[in-house]
Amino acid sequence: MSTQNDAFKKLVAHAKEYGFIFPSSEIYDGLGAVYDYGPYGVLLKNNIKEYWWRSMVQMHQNIVGLDAAIFMHPTTWKASGHVDAFNDPLIDNKDSKKRYRADQLVEGYIEKIEAKMEKEVAKGRKRFGESFDEKQFRETHPRVVQYATRIRELQERLGQLLSEGDLEGLKNMIEELEIADPETGSRNWTEVRQFNLMFATQLGAVAGEGGKLYLRPETAQGIFVNFLNVQKTTRQKIPFGIAQIGKAFRNEIVARQFIFRMREFEQMEMQFFVRPGTEMEWYNYWKETRMNWHKKLGTPDSELRFHDHDNLAHYANAAVDIEYRFPFGFRELEGIHSRTDFDLSSHEQHSGKKLRYFDPETKETYVPYVVETSIGCDRMFLAVLSGALQEESVRGAEGKESSRDVLKLPPALAPVKCAILPLKRNEERLTKTAREIFDRLKRSFYCQYDDTGSIGKLYRRQDAIGTPYCITVDFETLDDQTVTLRERDSLQQERIPIDQLEKVIAEKTDMKNLL
Ligand code: GAP
Repeated sequence: MSTQNDAFKKLVAHAKEYGFIFPSSEIYDGLGAVYDYGPYGVLLKNNIKEYWWRSMVQMHQNIVGLDAAIFMHPTTWKASGHVDAFNDPLIDNKDSKKRYRADQLVEGYIEKIEAKMEKEVAKGRKRFGESFDEKQFRETHPRVVQYATRIRELQERLGQLLSEGDLEGLKNMIEELEIADPETGSRNWTEVRQFNLMFATQLGAVAGEGGKLYLRPETAQGIFVNFLNVQKTTRQKIPFGIAQIGKAFRNEIVARQFIFRMREFEQMEMQFFVRPGTEMEWYNYWKETRMNWHKKLGTPDSELRFHDHDNLAHYANAAVDIEYRFPFGFRELEGIHSRTDFDLSSHEQHSGKKLRYFDPETKETYVPYVVETSIGCDRMFLAVLSGALQEESVRGAEGKESSRDVLKLPPALAPVKCAILPLKRNEERLTKTAREIFDRLKRSFYCQYDDTGSIGKLYRRQDAIGTPYCITVDFETLDDQTVTLRERDSLQQERIPIDQLEKVIAEKTDMKNLL
């Protein structure tokens, strides 16, 4: 088992054990690619959403919010292209009866070459030690160069087949590469066919096609159809944006990798309406702005990268992903798309209603162009959690080494901001004072009072859920009204007066620090 896999398994187990994420309907053995957020998960997720919302809406006078319904008029999805084109290529294995995404089978093949390449790089790193120049090694080592060329060729070929919708070409590629069913090894494949990812349901008492509704596969369309409602009621002038956080649903064929690819998930999307011809300027602005949003969380540069789309969707004239190094490799975390006037024009055609803007500066009326930023909240949650989880060895008070699992979450995102812990559980004077401190602080932050174990155990538990500060109440507290404030990452402890606690913790955990 690779260390990458081990790290990922550990993350999934940690998320469950400490009440962040549970499989949905677990007592019935779960439901594929659907997950529930537990007590700490919901707090962390809400904080991620707040960070996004405040960065977008509160920090920009020209961005306003919206909360559109999940159900929309069915013609919406005809206009957006989702009824006709929101498909994944599906392939069945005739022997195992297992169903796969044809493109993911090829990607799995490419990942194996990537793994070989990385192994070669790791060998180089070990051999050359301190003097290892990774960039040069990647550019000159014959085998690494060969692997990299092969990866590029396969990616380009796959991209072209997908953008042309060439299903026969995809089947040929799978056969040519001799790709086998990952679970059984069988190469007995069906033809590749298109599979629409939208979930359909029925409206009230209307029978048949007329009442067919879809669960929205993206939140963006709720913004497009409300473009004029919002513009008129807020008197926004172009350029301006509309931001929304909400659930989206996709009937993913193969859902792997925990909350990375779910069937019910949450998106944080912003559509920025601009004058035609200025879209590339804004595209570049949002590309940098969104990358900085990620870096503000302290994520190292090496863990984030841009990946330009080689094959653009029919509505886009530029598109880039912000990729994060998940435990299973670099993957898309967020997309920034220049969507032209495709969506608004298409809604005009299908609805017969004008979706235009009169520009008081140029005295022209036009359909605005749109630059979109779109990030999955759950994917962001996974990125935050995987960046935060660390196993460390620490030296206890008696000088003994032990290991701890710690979530080094940015304090503003941490579910619980501080824990109040009496040094001794059976000492009423300590527990009473600790409870009083808890009652004082709980109006300002999520806090926990805990006296259910030894102080060492209590610290470990708070480390595991990422609590940035622990307050210990001891006998000195009774004499001088001071407590020990322990910082999660440095483990430094300082003595501070009780009446300064609120101010100190507020300063250190305030979302303001990220904005
Ligand atoms: N409105 C544009 C749009 O929906 P997308 O690339 O399909 O674009 C945007 O999705 C983001 O939503 C992705 O970057 C990803 O973070 C998230 N996302 C997409 N599908 C997802 C899924 N099945 N599970 C979790 N997150 C998903």
